[in-house]
Amino acid sequence: MANLQSNTAGIISPNPFWLASAPPANSGDQIKRAFDHGWGGAVWKTLGQPIQNVSSRFAGLHYKGTKNIGFNNIELITDRSLETNFREIAEVKKSHPEHAIIVSLMVETKEEWQDIIKRSIDAGADGLELNFGCPHGMCERGMGSAVGQEPAVNEEITSWAMEYSTVPVLVKLTPNVGDIVPHGLAAQAGGANGVSLINTIKSIIGVDIDRQVINPRVGELSSNGGYCGAAVKPIALHMCASLARDPGFKIPISGIGGVSSWRDAVEFILLGASSVQVCTEVMLRGYRVVEDMIEGLENYMEEHGFEDLGQMTGKAIPSYSNWGNLDLNFETIAKIDADKCIGCYDCVVACQDGAHQCLFPAEEGKKRVPVIDESECVGCNLCEIVCPVPGCITMEEVDNGFAPATWNEHVNDGKPLRPKKGAH
Ligand SMILES: Cc1cc2nc3c(=O)[nH]c(=O)nc-3n(C[C@H](O)[C@H](O)[C@H](O)COP(=O)(O)O)c2cc1C
Ligand code: SF4
Ligand code: SF4
Repeated sequence: MANLQSNTAGIISPNPFWLASAPPANSGDQIKRAFDHGWGGAVWKTLGQPIQNVSSRFAGLHYKGTKNIGFNNIELITDRSLETNFREIAEVKKSHPEHAIIVSLMVETKEEWQDIIKRSIDAGADGLELNFGCPHGMCERGMGSAVGQEPAVNEEITSWAMEYSTVPVLVKLTPNVGDIVPHGLAAQAGGANGVSLINTIKSIIGVDIDRQVINPRVGELSSNGGYCGAAVKPIALHMCASLARDPGFKIPISGIGGVSSWRDAVEFILLGASSVQVCTEVMLRGYRVVEDMIEGLENYMEEHGFEDLGQMTGKAIPSYSNWGNLDLNFETIAKIDADKCIGCYDCVVACQDGAHQCLFPAEEGKKRVPVIDESECVGCNLCEIVCPVPGCITMEEVDNGFAPATWNEHVNDGKPLRPKKGAH
């Protein structure tokens, strides 16, 4: 049996699935139920000076019949008293000692950091997460992403936390920056034991076009929110991988952003994460989603011969390269399985209007299977992407007789490139 135990910067949990700091991790009763469903850890809803939230605060992005491919919120940190939160942390730690509790924190002054860190550890926190990521409301008060966007401030506050903490400290980074690497390095320079990323992306999710007011509507006003959910995963994966492959970056990563299945979790782990955190998927479908995540991850590890998460972490990182190192002589073309084809011609439209005009309708009277001009196919994948039938279009590698040659090799050493297709 594969060992699912995870170790993120010294925070041990029975599996790598943690609730992210958000409404599903708002109270002790909720987190106990989550642990009973199998969640390995939970990052407590961010503690600080309790706030007052607006009433209307969430909005979903729906796309052609699929609800909530993206999600947006203008919620702030905890609105419950610190005493209540700390009492409940202690209760959960007592009832579920094997599960990891990471307490997310956001305060302003050095004294406040010292006080809240001590109280979190006294309550039983296994780790702390410094919320330098919230892109709405709290940043207007000089916290959250206002800290995460300034490496010097990030480093300084992280160093305060390291001075006071006796448990591992993760710094939660904001994606609202051009390049995540200096921000991860700043957390590392401040002494952080690890980082977690991403927090939400600054966004406007949409406009109520009848009222002409931005969503979510608070009376006749709104504000920018934080974007998350399935749609943000590619951005989160990129940021996770950027840090994981940076030679100067040495500390562990807890991956967050759009995890909605075990496959998403595997992707984060292969790109360098030691644990993954989930918010939106739980908000939409409940704690039970973790059951499939655990089973799926376990099966995947067994099928691929991974005995523990350490063997998996970062395994896909070497596959990343600069564009200039990609093989320009690597060639694929589209092949259509006529038996599977349902003749919808979605691929023909896509190739004609969005690619290289080499897929055509069948001749009058013949079965509706598109005809391909292989000599013009550039192997762009678009037809495979749009085809509604799994396995009907496959991209097949072609032996074109040219040895591999990258742009860099071509420019530096004159290595020959195969003739261009579709460039007329
Ligand atoms: C309603 C809501 C409230 C959130 N509150 C917090 C918070 O208090 N502290 C924090 O660090 N992140 C907070 N987040 C961000 C999440 O922890 C997480 O980083 C983000 O949602 C991306 O993960 P996801 O795509 O799985 O939702 C919140 C997210 C949502 C949707
Ligand atoms: S791979 Fe691209 S160019 Fe080739 S047939 Fe498909 S859509 Fe057209
Ligand atoms: S999109 Fe797929 S199913 Fe539809 S015509 Fe093309 S190959 Fe056939």
